[in-house]
Amino acid sequence: MTRHWIGIALAGLISCVFAASFPAMAWIRAQQGHSKQYTSEIQSLAVRREPADPLADALARGGKIYRHYCRICHGEEGKGDGFNSYNIEPPPRNLTDDDFWQQTTDERAYYAVSQGGGSVGKSVMMPAWGHTLTDRQIRDVITFVRALAGQPTALAAPSSAPHGKTP
Ligand code: HEC
Repeated sequence: MTRHWIGIALAGLISCVFAASFPAMAWIRAQQGHSKQYTSEIQSLAVRREPADPLADALARGGKIYRHYCRICHGEEGKGDGFNSYNIEPPPRNLTDDDFWQQTTDERAYYAVSQGGGSVGKSVMMPAWGHTLTDRQIRDVITFVRALAGQPTALAAPSSAPHGKTP
């Protein structure tokens, strides 16, 4: 008889635990729902953080590189009249010269910047930046100097020219 009561009590206990687990499960599901919602919010933020305008980004990066490495010779506005230009013969190229950009290509400009003036038959006073700048930095700075010259702005094309520095 006692066994009988123990059996009933146990069954009662088990069903209580079982019933109590429903709200707990509902709560866990709700949390999972929340975290899913947060995950998708974070993902959409990440998407929004993608560069909206690759050209503007390249110009901004290229401008920084130009001011850091090139301005001293090529000048604030690229006219070849930087602080250092007065010590150099022939002087640094006037990068705002239309004719120059009509006659040159991204590929040639890439060689000049990566491998130095000597690599395109110009003055070796134009240093080689291939060990200082990465491939992307070289293309960014070319994009920038072309824009400085008022040339149609587009991202500088990739080049097969060597550059020593891997990103
Ligand atoms: C030490 C001075 C100096 C610095 C710094 C310098 N340049 Fe030059 N650059 C020159 C000189 C000098 C020439 C001209 C060579 C000639 O006409 O023979 C030149 C020429 C060029 C040319 C034209 C090459 C051609 O085909 O005629 C480009 C493009 C150029 N520089 C880009 C840059 C960029 C981009 C930077 C910065 C990463 C830079 N230069 C930094 C001195 C410099």
